[in-house]
Amino acid sequence: MTVALKRIGVLVSGGGSNLQAIIDAVNQQELPANIAVVISNKSGVFALERAQNWRIPTLVIDHRQCSSSREFSLAILQRLQEFQIDLVCLAGFLRILDPLLIQEFRGRILNIHPALLPAFGGKGMYGHHVHEAVIASGAKFSGATVHLVTSETDIGPIVKQGMVTVSDEDTADSLAAKVLQIEHQIYPQAIKLVLEDKLIFDGCRTRLKKQ
Ligand code: GAR
Repeated sequence: MTVALKRIGVLVSGGGSNLQAIIDAVNQQELPANIAVVISNKSGVFALERAQNWRIPTLVIDHRQCSSSREFSLAILQRLQEFQIDLVCLAGFLRILDPLLIQEFRGRILNIHPALLPAFGGKGMYGHHVHEAVIASGAKFSGATVHLVTSETDIGPIVKQGMVTVSDEDTADSLAAKVLQIEHQIYPQAIKLVLEDKLIFDGCRTRLKKQ
C-alpha cells in the first residue's frame, strides 16, 4: 500500500539553513512528505535559491506591499490553500501571522525558535536578539525549540527541544552557530512526529502516543 505524501509549505525570511535541513530530510526519505511551496516575505534571500536548486516552487509575498498585517497573512493563506498544504513550517520566518491564518491551519503550523522556550521568547525576540539576551542573562544553557504556533507569539505546545552549553567564550555569533546545528537536527524530527500523528496535545504539553 502506498501512503500519500503530505504537502509541506515552508515560510522563510532569510538564509534558509533550516529549510535546507527539511529539504535534506525529504530527499533522504526521512519525512513522509514533499515540500510543495516555499514562501518568502523578502525577495533575493538565499532560502529562495536553496528551494529553486531543488525545483521547489517559490513565491515572494512582500509584507511591505500589503496594506496591513491581515492582508499579508490572507495573501499567504490563499497560496497555502491553492497549494493544498497539510503542514506549514516557519523556518526563520520573521513576521507575525494573523490569527485568521493561524485559526485556519490550527494545529498544523510549526515554528522553530532559537532558545529554550518559554525563556527568551515573545515579541522582539528573534534571531540575534535572542542570543544577545541569552548571553547577557548569564544563562549556562540555551538551545532551540520547535512548537505549534498559536495566536500568542512563542507560546504554543512544545514538540521538541535541543540544548547547547553557553561557554565563557561564547558571543551571540558563536552561540547562534551552535544553536543552528541543533535546530537542523530537531526540526525534521519534530516535523516527522507531527506528520506521523505520534503526539497527543494536552494543553501546553505534548506527549508521545503509546504504540
Ligand atoms: C534560526 O535561528 C531560527 O530559529 C530563527 O531565525 C534563524 C533562521 O535561520 N527564527 C527566529 O528567531 C524566529 N523567532 P535560517 O534562515 O538559516 O533557517
